[in-house]
Amino acid sequence: MKLSDQEDWLAELRLADGQTVCFRHVRPDDETLISAAIRTASRETLLHRFFSPIRTVSPDLLRRLLVIDRVKEACIVGLMADNGNMRIICGARYVRLPKPAAAEIAFTVHDDFQRRGLGTFLLKLLLQLARQDGIRWFEADVMVSNVGMLRLLRRSAPPPARKHCDGDVYHLEMDLDSWRGAGQGTNSRPVVA
Ligand SMILES: CC(C)(COP(=O)(O)OP(=O)(O)OC[C@H]1O[C@@H](n2cnc3c(N)ncnc32)[C@H](O)[C@@H]1OP(=O)(O)O)[C@@H](O)C(=O)NCCC(=O)NCCS
Repeated sequence: MKLSDQEDWLAELRLADGQTVCFRHVRPDDETLISAAIRTASRETLLHRFFSPIRTVSPDLLRRLLVIDRVKEACIVGLMADNGNMRIICGARYVRLPKPAAAEIAFTVHDDFQRRGLGTFLLKLLLQLARQDGIRWFEADVMVSNVGMLRLLRRSAPPPARKHCDGDVYHLEMDLDSWRGAGQGTNSRPVVA
């Protein structure tokens, strides 16, 4: 199966090994692909993403992941053709918080594709979308043990304007206005929606 030209792609990224990842908004009919991605992810990845090493995907969680209210949230998924099948290999979302122009962000890159730049790319895509949607602050809860996410943010985001630690979780607040230049310079087609 090839990635269809008919899709409403936001961007694409060629990985170092030549494979192409295409990005679009998540859709309710992604249920099978999202469930497969969660089912095959490692315990650590699920723990860092959901703060609990879930194994089964409850109907409620699936609904929250798939049914997106674009007034309040956005969720981008990255797809790849893999041995004749389509696969969702990564995703990122923001959900508006009950305060002005602020949203909480979360990312997942499947274990098979971590440390290839996808998390960094998703952060830039999410940033572009969020700016278009009038968001000025990103907030993130990141486990203290989550070296990968903390490094990603340290490398690709400005120093957090506010940061505190609550037990084993850091809460970070990032000012998007101090992040000029980010979201550009990716080897992607630009975000169009
Ligand atoms: C955290 C996560 C999103 C990072 O995505 P990724 O695609 O692997 O990140 P990138 O390849 O863009 O790497 C960004 C930087 O972090 C570093 N990094 C990533 N994972 C790392 C790890 N496990 N240990 C050390 N460094 C790591 C990379 O080397 C890179 O740094 P560099 O530019 O100095 O080389 C991904 O590992 C993931 O989905 N983890 C599980 C879920 C999760 O933690 N979500 C975040 C909740 S908010």
